[in-house]
Formats: sequence, structure tokens, C-alpha cells
Amino acid sequence: MSVLRTVIQDTHQKLEAAGIPDARLEAEVFVMNVMRMARQSIFAEQETDVSAQQQIALDAFLERRLLREPLAYILGQREFYGINVILTPAVMIPRPETEGLVEHALFIAMMGMESRDLLIADVGTGSGAIAINLAMHLPAAKIFAVDVADAVLDVAAYNVRVHGVAGRVSLGIGDLLDPVPEPVDLIVANLPYIPTGRIPTLQPEVQQEPALALDGGPDGLCLIRRLLTQAEAKLKDSGIILLEMDPEQIPAVQKLALNHFQEGSTSVEQDLAGMDRILTIFRQSPE
Ligand SMILES: C[S@@+](CC[C@H](N)C(=O)[O-])C[C@H]1O[C@@H](n2cnc3c(N)ncnc32)[C@H](O)[C@@H]1O
Repeated sequence: MSVLRTVIQDTHQKLEAAGIPDARLEAEVFVMNVMRMARQSIFAEQETDVSAQQQIALDAFLERRLLREPLAYILGQREFYGINVILTPAVMIPRPETEGLVEHALFIAMMGMESRDLLIADVGTGSGAIAINLAMHLPAAKIFAVDVADAVLDVAAYNVRVHGVAGRVSLGIGDLLDPVPEPVDLIVANLPYIPTGRIPTLQPEVQQEPALALDGGPDGLCLIRRLLTQAEAKLKDSGIILLEMDPEQIPAVQKLALNHFQEGSTSVEQDLAGMDRILTIFRQSPE
């Protein structure tokens, strides 16, 4: 029988040899999950025996990870803005940079909007991570969370229920804003924005995520373009749109937005790495 210390070392080495980034951290996360131990315990209890059954479970995790299956799919969950969301390979794994979208949406909703009973649309909701956080932090808001795929909405529905916000998050299936029944105050969207041609160059883990969540068409902007067109009828006059995208796409989308909303204005927020990431579009310029 092996002890924790050697199992972590062994797992670390195998992950590293396969070229997996942050191999030591991932080895620790695997062990924490299989042994059901907190991080501090795996350091404090290095001589704990690992049972044969636990070793089998670890080997099964490792086998999947060596095939470059994303860690979050193997664990079946991911932490996002302080909550855990359940994941299946049908849904995109929420990214840390998208936490900035939530943060900025909350700032706008709390500081910049007159009404507290906001109507919000989360377009391309995926796991529901954005919609759930908005509902939890904005207790008077009602959120329409839309996705185009049934399997995605099943996961979102589960997460919405688990976090106790099903009364204020309505899930809808369809194309972009089509299922949203009335004009909203705020549209928040992290839509697929990767140009089709760039997808084969992405890390192997990312390529295992659903194409529907990644592929933004030839220039990455197909969905965003259509969203802006639909928003003309689905955004209130005082409404605001927040879009996450690639830094390089922002100037083009700023231009498009001002073509749609000629009395509007835009501003840009950076992500944690200092890259332009979120475009805010005011339907009517606040100045
Ligand atoms: C980049 S993922 C974002 C998921 C989630 N909002 C997040 O940030 O983790 C984009 C999502 O948009 C959905 N999607 C793709 N095309 C769509 C469409 N035409 N209408 C609505 N949702 C769409 C995908 O299924 C996917 O869940």
C-alpha cells in the first residue's frame, strides 16, 4: 500500500511527463477529491495510507486526464465567483475572466441603474454561472437565461435549482434573444467568439469543450453581430449591453454597436491580466 506523499509525487510526475501545466497542483486536487481531504490535510497527513480502492479511483482520474480531458469535467464541477457549478461535457467550463463580467454587471446594476427590479438577459448561459450569481447578488432582479441546446439547459436548470434562484431565473431555449419575452434593462453575454480557423490551434483541453460554445464563425463575431441586431427590439431605451470578447475584436464591435445605437456610447473594461475583455454598450449615452 502507498502513502499519500508517494501517491502525490507519482501522480505529479505522470502529469508532468504528459506536458500538463500545473501538474503538481492538479495532482493535489486529484488526491483531495479521491481521499475527500482538505488541502491543508494532504500536507499535514503525508504518511496516511492510500487504500487499493482509492488508488483505483485515482488511476481512473489520471487515465482521463492523460487523454487531456479538462480537470473540471473529470471532477464534474468548477468554482466560479464563489459558487460551485456542476458541469458535464455538454457545457463550457466557466473561466476566471468571466468573473470580471459578473463583477462589472453587478457594479452597473447596483450603481448605474435607477430601478432595483431589473430585468436581465444572460445570453448563452451555459452552466448558468453568470445568471445564478446575478440572481444571488441582486435579490430584486429577474433573469432570463437563454441557451440554444437542451443538454446545456439541463445542466443550467440543475445549477439554478441547487443555488435556490429558480424563482427568479427563467430558462429559455432558442436563438440568442428570441426567447426573451420583453425588453430588458441589461443584456450580459459571453457568447462564442473564437474564429473558426483558430479552433484547431487551441489547447487540447479546450478542444474537448463543445464547439457550440467556442465557434464564433469566420471572424468570431457572427453571434455578437446577430445579438446586436436582435437587441434593437429587446433592450430598453435606457438599457446596457455587456459583452465578453477577445481584445482584438473590441474596436470592430464598438463600431457595430454605434451603428445600431446611434445615441449610444461604449466603454471597455480589462480582465485580471490587464487585457481589454468586456465591452459595455449604453443604448443611450449617459452623458
Ligand atoms: C462561451 S459559452 C459561455 C457559457 C457561460 N455563459 C459561461 O460564461 O461560462 C457560450 C454559450 O452560448 C451558447 N450558444 C451558442 N449559440 C447560441 C445561440 N445562437 N443562442 C443562444 N445560445 C447560444 C452555447 O451553447 C454556450 O453555452
